[in-house]
Amino acid sequence: MEDLISNSLPGMRDLLPEEIGRWQFVEERAHRIFRCYGFEEIRTSIIEPTELFARGIGDDTDIVGKEMYTFMDRSKRSVTLRPEATASVVRAYLQNSMYRGGGLTKLYYMGPMFRHEKKQKGRWRQFYQVGAEALGSDHPAVDAEMIEMALWFIMSLGVEARLLLNSVGCRKCRPRYIERLQAELAKCVADLCEDCGRRASTNSLRVFDCKVDSCQPYIDGLPVIADHLCAECLEHFENVKSYLDEAGVGYTIVPRLVRGLDYYVRTAFEIVSGELGSQNAIAGGGRYDGLSEALGGPPVQAIGFALGLDRLVMILPEDQFAEQQRKPDLFLAYLGEAAMDRATEIARDLRHQGFSCYLDFAAGRLKNQFRLANRIGARYVLILGEDELARGVASMKCLADSRQWEIALPEIAGYLRSHGPENTA
Ligand code: HAM
Repeated sequence: MEDLISNSLPGMRDLLPEEIGRWQFVEERAHRIFRCYGFEEIRTSIIEPTELFARGIGDDTDIVGKEMYTFMDRSKRSVTLRPEATASVVRAYLQNSMYRGGGLTKLYYMGPMFRHEKKQKGRWRQFYQVGAEALGSDHPAVDAEMIEMALWFIMSLGVEARLLLNSVGCRKCRPRYIERLQAELAKCVADLCEDCGRRASTNSLRVFDCKVDSCQPYIDGLPVIADHLCAECLEHFENVKSYLDEAGVGYTIVPRLVRGLDYYVRTAFEIVSGELGSQNAIAGGGRYDGLSEALGGPPVQAIGFALGLDRLVMILPEDQFAEQQRKPDLFLAYLGEAAMDRATEIARDLRHQGFSCYLDFAAGRLKNQFRLANRIGARYVLILGEDELARGVASMKCLADSRQWEIALPEIAGYLRSHGPENTA
């Protein structure tokens, strides 16, 4: 026999049935809240031309430079498993001329992303995001609404979180700032870590992301973008803050906050939770007014965010989803072949009415069927014997309190419906 292939790739994992209830719960909540805010779902392909991410996210970023799953497909074309979805959403927006109708286009998505990062708690190579993008306006109220929705979604799940906010300037004011930053970096580059040394000239803003202790005193002394914003960026930032104030959304201004993707201008934010370890960012986002043009499209002002589902699910309070976990309403146990056929018909009828029914064709003796019913947590067991079936009845047993009684077959659905609203679909 060949060796059994029993391991997934490093950083990849299966989401097993025992944990999937949490995922479904969070995903359903996202659908509901994002729709309340007027967003519509979009599903883009998870594999794209490599050029899309190189141009969209930026050649000098860690994502494009070190982390992408890129390979030649059978047509000898360089393709990449998406490391994020913003570039894909903008590509789809342009490809389908969604800007033609004018006004704001509000899209959300969820699904797997791929980054070949160093493995760490809270970090996977295949991970899942839910995200939202609003395209077609640079009004600061759009920024504030986007942030409010992201926070409301997280808070509605009972998860503690904090908003970190900054403005990273625009194509007008940033180049002048970068020049100043690079001049300052040149003075201390010899004392900085290897990563900072490299970033000092290629992607200087990212120096602010460095976590190496010995670099911190130097980084603390560097000029920050917030002090170099042009009048328009400053006004935009002030307006975003006052819309957030009006909405009662608290925030901490973090002048060092820069994001790992090149497309950001003006508003940049992260939502962090103290319940996570070193990878404490649940969500990140910002404005990306130049991305459409970088991809060859017309100017489109836009803002969005993405939230790491793996991390959110990890810190989801237990009581939030316990009720959501749907166990089978009914386990159908049978004695003999004829009863099994009848059980199949009854289960089909109940399932079509929205009840969750479990029927095991290979369980064998009644004792085994009961053992299974207990294991899967069924609420009731219906015992179908041939004699009873001939009389149009069966025995119903409640597994919680062991009560057992005879029930007429046409009354089963009514009984399940009236004993717990959660039993109906
Ligand atoms: P990002 O900050 O790269 O932004 O990712 C957003 C979130 O995805 C992070 O805050 C984190 O929760 C999660 N995440 C990222 N990498 C991993 C990983 N390796 N394992 C687990 N979770 C991870 C973006 O992706 C932008 N596209 C967000 C955006 C949308 N900006 C504008 N629109």
